[in-house]
Amino acid sequence: MKGVILAGGVGSRLTPLTEITNKHLLPVGKEPMIWHPVRQLVGAGIAEILVVTSTHHMGSVVQSLGSGKRFGCEFTYRVQEEAGGIAHALALAAAFSAGEPIVVLLGDNVFEYSIRPHVDDFRRQQNGARVLLKEVGDPERFGVAALDEKVIVSIEEKPARPRTNYAVVGCYMYDARVFEIIGRTAKSARGEYEITTVNNIYIADRQLEYGFVKGRWTDAGTFESFMEASRLLLELNNQIRT
Ligand code: G1P
Repeated sequence: MKGVILAGGVGSRLTPLTEITNKHLLPVGKEPMIWHPVRQLVGAGIAEILVVTSTHHMGSVVQSLGSGKRFGCEFTYRVQEEAGGIAHALALAAAFSAGEPIVVLLGDNVFEYSIRPHVDDFRRQQNGARVLLKEVGDPERFGVAALDEKVIVSIEEKPARPRTNYAVVGCYMYDARVFEIIGRTAKSARGEYEITTVNNIYIADRQLEYGFVKGRWTDAGTFESFMEASRLLLELNNQIRT
């Protein structure tokens, strides 16, 4: 099992903070934001991690993370030259993953508890994909899952009228098929290769499992959620509950 952290994008919703640095290097609690997904992956027993970020701030990202020695892992870095969406960024992990299953974390997602139990469930799953859900008050900001009894029947990306309150959070687990699936997807109306399109293909193949996030979770893409992420990690002293 290998790990992928997606830390690209321009962070336009956090302007002017993101004019001089990458969103994922902004402080949450006492550490740069991107240290949290690193600690999550290492805590889940994943030691080979690919970091994807934009050309502009790659130097600063490498300066912050280094080789991985201080975290107990080994980093590989890849540049995403244009912001083409999450699935577009993930396609850059094909050679790195080398046929192994992967755990993908969005660099701006913060979890109170370790993702380890979910990664262990995926280790037992053998193939297909796995996503994590969290009940939220503002589902229209996220990918939203519709559930029928015990299976996810569809995921809608930022629906104006969400069918449920279950947000699909930024932690995705995939078998090696994911790269061939990404290759089959088209750009969405907002001009991006959406991870939601990829997940819907796994649903159509009845290969998408899920779990629920325990404790608090937030992204950090808006000023409000960024502050929430910072408050949470400050309270936890940047340690993840197990
Ligand atoms: C992305 C995904 C969305 C997911 C969210 C989690 O949205 O497209 O499905 O729910 O991350 O943080 P973004 O925040 O990049 O617009």
